[in-house]
Amino acid sequence: MAPSAAYDVHPVDDVEAAYQLELRGFPASEASSRDTLVRRHQMAPHFCIGAYTRDSPVGRLVGFTSATASQGDTLTHAAMYTHDPEGTTVNLHSVCVDPDYQRRGIASLLLKELAQRLRALNQAPRSTWPPGMHKPYRCIRLIAHQPLFPLYQANGYTLIGRSSVEHGKYHYYIPYIKLNEFGISPPYRVNSVEVPWPSRWDSSTLHPVIN
Ligand SMILES: CC(C)(COP(=O)(O)OP(=O)(O)OC[C@H]1O[C@@H](n2cnc3c(N)ncnc32)[C@H](O)[C@@H]1OP(=O)(O)O)[C@@H](O)C(=O)NCCC(=O)NCCS
Repeated sequence: MAPSAAYDVHPVDDVEAAYQLELRGFPASEASSRDTLVRRHQMAPHFCIGAYTRDSPVGRLVGFTSATASQGDTLTHAAMYTHDPEGTTVNLHSVCVDPDYQRRGIASLLLKELAQRLRALNQAPRSTWPPGMHKPYRCIRLIAHQPLFPLYQANGYTLIGRSSVEHGKYHYYIPYIKLNEFGISPPYRVNSVEVPWPSRWDSSTLHPVIN
């Protein structure tokens, strides 16, 4: 069965269930705290989309996204914990799927749904926009390790370059998807170095950037 037919996708109302998934999905050092997830959900509930099974009346949460908005092109560490309601860049902090449900297309479903919902919101009457939003969202971006590039590539993301955020032993890179015609204008700056806009995902073109 296609994932979209097998799961209900709608905003998350039970943040505790999302937190329990976060603990199961991420290594302890990378999992967001309960407080952080609750705060993000309070500040930007429209970025918190869940995939629910259809095997019970309310369904069980098996995957979710969590994000906040910021202004400007630079992805700072602070952006992970704050939400600027006027921000036009959506920083995706978590895409998390229950380990028992992985590789069934749920993350792809959520990534597509989030982009689709935000594009629809951009086009919707301003009177329906969340408090503080006064310009259309430009893009969704995140930081990811190289092994997960295929997930983002398959869902329409391109790569900006290497992130200045350091955490753990592997470098992070910045996949990005436009939500309106502006996006983030290349060249994008990483650690004050201009990075060429890559036309394809290729580690041989990435590594010169990081050295
Ligand atoms: C990463 C994660 C969200 C993927 O969820 P998922 O529902 O299994 O992903 P999908 O089924 O939509 O995967 C689509 C494609 O992405 C790629 N992909 C997904 N997970 C992958 C992984 N762990 N390693 C390498 N490629 C992966 C594959 O190409 C996959 O297609 P395939 O199954 O036909 O090979 C999930 O493994 C997870 O929650 N991990 C822990 C949290 C995390 O690391 N989140 C991402 C960073 S925020």
